[in-house]
Amino acid sequence: MRIIFLGPPGGGKGTQADFIAERYEIPKLSTGDLLREGVAKETSLGKEAKGYMEKGQLVPDSVVIGLVEAKLVSPDCQKGFILDGFPRTVTQADQLDNFMRSTGKKVDIVVFFSIPKDEIVKRISGRRSCQECKAVYHLDYVPPKQHGICDLCGHSLVQRNDDEPKTIESRLFVYQEQTAPLIEYYKSQNILGELDGSGSVSAVQDRLLDLLTHQKSE
Ligand code: AP5
Repeated sequence: MRIIFLGPPGGGKGTQADFIAERYEIPKLSTGDLLREGVAKETSLGKEAKGYMEKGQLVPDSVVIGLVEAKLVSPDCQKGFILDGFPRTVTQADQLDNFMRSTGKKVDIVVFFSIPKDEIVKRISGRRSCQECKAVYHLDYVPPKQHGICDLCGHSLVQRNDDEPKTIESRLFVYQEQTAPLIEYYKSQNILGELDGSGSVSAVQDRLLDLLTHQKSE
């Protein structure tokens, strides 16, 4: 399956993408993770992206589109993929459409995570991630077994630079202005599936599986 996860920052896209990637045995391509990796390794891409990310702004389309297309042509994406955090602008969506057309394949479903703003802020504020394996936790909702330590690899958990209150506001504004228009964009292509993203991780997981199973059988 070829799936796009669309939704506000902190909406739970990354959490559910990990689960679906394992379940459907398809790779998850998270532009946020790829960019953060570039920043950590101080690659030229990372150096270009850093300032935008710290301010909660989008990295320029030209940078992100090239990054994603390079991944999509790789052999492991041929039987499907989940795009988490891409596209995020109409230009990115148009480019992805062109790219898919050139391969003769199509995106099966765009899952839109719908979630109230107060819940988003709570989720982002409590998020902690593993520096090493990138596993994501939440201080209250998805706590690690041992405080500050990753259950999976034992490395320490940190708060993302862009998860501070003033950057959260900026990311939410950017989402409304530049990314939310994609809801109508994909609705008009008849591939948008709306997911109620509120409630526990497992409740969202169940609703998501229902949505994808329904889509597959159509
Ligand atoms: P990115 O990393 O994509 O951030 P985002 O879209 O803002 O999404 P998040 O990672 O914040 O949230 P999420 O929806 O994955 O939620 P999560 O599962 O972690 O992008 C970062 C930056 O990179 C951007 O600001 C931009 O600068 C740049 N960038 C990336 N893509 C770009 C693009 N295409 N174009 C241009 N620039 C780009 O969950 C959040 C928290 O809630 C976690 O703590 C989790 O444990 C918890 N949680 C999850 N689900 C639940 C639940 N159901 N109940 C309770 N807690 C939950």
